[in-house]
Parts: sequence; structure tokens; C-alpha cells
Amino acid sequence: MYRSLYRHLLSRMDAEWIHGVALSSLAAAGAFPLSRALLQRLFAPYADSSLRVQAFGLRFAHPLGLAAGFDKDGTALRGLAALGFSFIEVGTVTPQPQAGNPKPRLFRLLEDRALINRLGFPSSGMVQVAHNLRWRPATPIAISLGKNKETPLGAALRDYRAVLEHLYAYGDLFVVNVSSPNTPELRRLQSDAYLNDLLAGLRQSVDAQPVAKPLLLKIAPDLSLDEIEVICALALQNGISGIIATNTMLERPPNLRSVAARESGGLSGAPLRDRSTAIVQYIHRVTEGKLPVIGVGGVFSGADLWAKLCAGATLVQAYTGFVYEGLAFVKRALRELKQIMAAEGVRNLNEIIGKTD
Ligand SMILES: Cc1cc2nc3c(=O)[nH]c(=O)nc-3n(C[C@H](O)[C@H](O)[C@H](O)COP(=O)(O)O)c2cc1C
Repeated sequence: MYRSLYRHLLSRMDAEWIHGVALSSLAAAGAFPLSRALLQRLFAPYADSSLRVQAFGLRFAHPLGLAAGFDKDGTALRGLAALGFSFIEVGTVTPQPQAGNPKPRLFRLLEDRALINRLGFPSSGMVQVAHNLRWRPATPIAISLGKNKETPLGAALRDYRAVLEHLYAYGDLFVVNVSSPNTPELRRLQSDAYLNDLLAGLRQSVDAQPVAKPLLLKIAPDLSLDEIEVICALALQNGISGIIATNTMLERPPNLRSVAARESGGLSGAPLRDRSTAIVQYIHRVTEGKLPVIGVGGVFSGADLWAKLCAGATLVQAYTGFVYEGLAFVKRALRELKQIMAAEGVRNLNEIIGKTD
């Protein structure tokens, strides 16, 4: 029903406006115990011990979490948790509030099951996000760290550090986002010249905290394998706990059919799926599994989850798949994953991680 509603009605309306309405509704439904319980009852998957994952010193009910960008300011976390995501990434959060790029800046590519966005880190800023996170759910929360648009690359560490330190008490994992294509020059931070200092500086900040928490790095899918290998080496050298692969893609595959494919920005969804899976597999191989990977890009179904796990992902995230599949996304994807596990005679997820590597 949601798919047909989405195709015929929601898809005719402005994508960002609909997103705002969905987020406010989830925030409202998540704020009250009764409506929260109803969401959970209708949409959350049943607890299943065979899907549990332990990673980064944390326990996850299953491998499927919500990717960064959906709830940038952490306003709807209780509603999103009630839908069954096993972890939620808030952000990307910048130190100072900023509006992001001019609208329109979010586009649906219905025929391609994809989105293009050039939001450019709209953020309420770290002070407001800290305020919002006072009502966080028990579900593990990752916080994506970013820099303000006006901050020069040479001063980026200051911005990332400010957000990390301000929000440290509120998150369970932290993600250094150097891979969004919509902040000018941001992705240059992935290069050797900047990355080592950035990661070393953030490592120091984590080490200075009373409690150690995992720090991860999120990378772009447009990097070459050689660049990814260098990034993995720097990550290992600087005690980074894991890699999130990948962010949205700048490249446009030639077979895209939607008119909106011409829009500039980062492409997500089905056309990104195989590229991000290949990168997960490469990282798993080149680091011999020493650097846990969170696989993200084009996950719509249990089969997509299975493919990411087999490629070496310890956990998986989705954004576009949730937009297209609707509120029952997690429940359906996990049901399909369980069916594949049963058909393959797999009883526990640890048996399959990295199987196709
Ligand atoms: C509208 C939109 C906004 C996003 N904003 C962020 C962001 O702020 N930070 C980030 O790290 N990734 C962001 N992403 C990237 C997603 O987290 C994810 O890496 C990417 O969309 C690929 O996954 P998907 O195919 O499941 O959507 C955004 C994606 C979309 C579609």
C-alpha cells in the first residue's frame, strides 16, 4: 500500500517537504508512550537472537540501522527507534547552525529507485542537537561529525573536534564525515595530506575523554581502490574503529532513466548498491577483516542486506530504501533475511560475514 501511495501521491509533492512532514510525524508519534507502542507493535521486527550483532563494544539487535542524513538534528529518534532500526546515525551535525544549499535540493528518481541530494549539511548546530538528544532512545546512536561550509579545510579539525566534544556524552559511536559531495572541497579531507592530521587530532580528543567510544570514518564511493587502501592504512594507524562505506555518488551510471538524473548532487539508492558492496568487499579484503565495515548504499531488501554481509559488512545502514519501502521497511527486510538464512542453512550472522570476499 505504501509503495503505491508513494508512487501516485507522495512522489508528486516536493521531496524535501514530504521528508519534513514524515520526520515531524515520527517525532510526534515517538514522543508519547501510547503512540510509540503502537508504532512498535505495527512495524518493529520481533526480537530474534540469530540476528544479533556485537561490534565496536556494543550490542545490536540486528544488523540494519538508519543512515546519516535522515534525522540530521536528532528530532525523531524515539519514533525511528520504534520502527525497529538497530542503530540510528544522527547528523551530519555542524558546530554552528547553517541553512545548507538553496532549494530545491532533493530529487526523486522513481524509475531508478534512487534519490539525488545537494542539501549541503543543513544543521541546527551542535548546541541545539545536544538539546534534542536529551530524549534519545536506548537504541545505539551514532553521531556524524561535520564542518561548517565557511570553515577552511586547514581549520577543519577545529570544527570536527568541537562537535565531537560537545556531543560526546550523547552518542555511542562517532563518525567522521569527510565524504559528502555537497560541501565544497570537503572530500579533499579524504586525501593523505589532510586525513592523517584530522584522524590523529580526533583520536587525541577521544583519548582525553573519561570513557572510550568508537570513532569511525565514512568514505565516498567515487574513490579509487588505491585511495581506499591508503585511507584504510591511515585509519588503522590512528586507531579508527571502523569504516562506513559509502556516502552518495557523484558519478551517474549511463543507464539512469529518470529526468531528475541531470540534477547535480549525490546519488543514492539502487544505482549505488553494487559499487558500495564492492567497496565493502575490498576493505574487508585489504584489511584482512581488521577494520569492521558498516555497509551502506542501495539496501532495499533482505537480499541486499545479505549481499552486504557476505561482502564483509558487520552492520548495514539504509536511507533511500527506507524512503521507498516505508514504515515496515526494517520488519520486511529482516523477514527476508531470515528466509535467506534458513534456505542457506545459516543459523547465525557470524557464519556469513565476509563469505563472498
Ligand atoms: C537526502 C540525503 C541526505 C543525506 N545526508 C547525509 C549526511 O548529512 N551525512 C552523511 O554522512 N550522509 C548523508 N547521506 C548519505 C546516506 O547516509 C547514505 O550514505 C547514502 O544515501 C547511501 O545509502 P542509501 O543508498 O541507502 O541511501 C544523505 C543521503 C540522502 C539521500
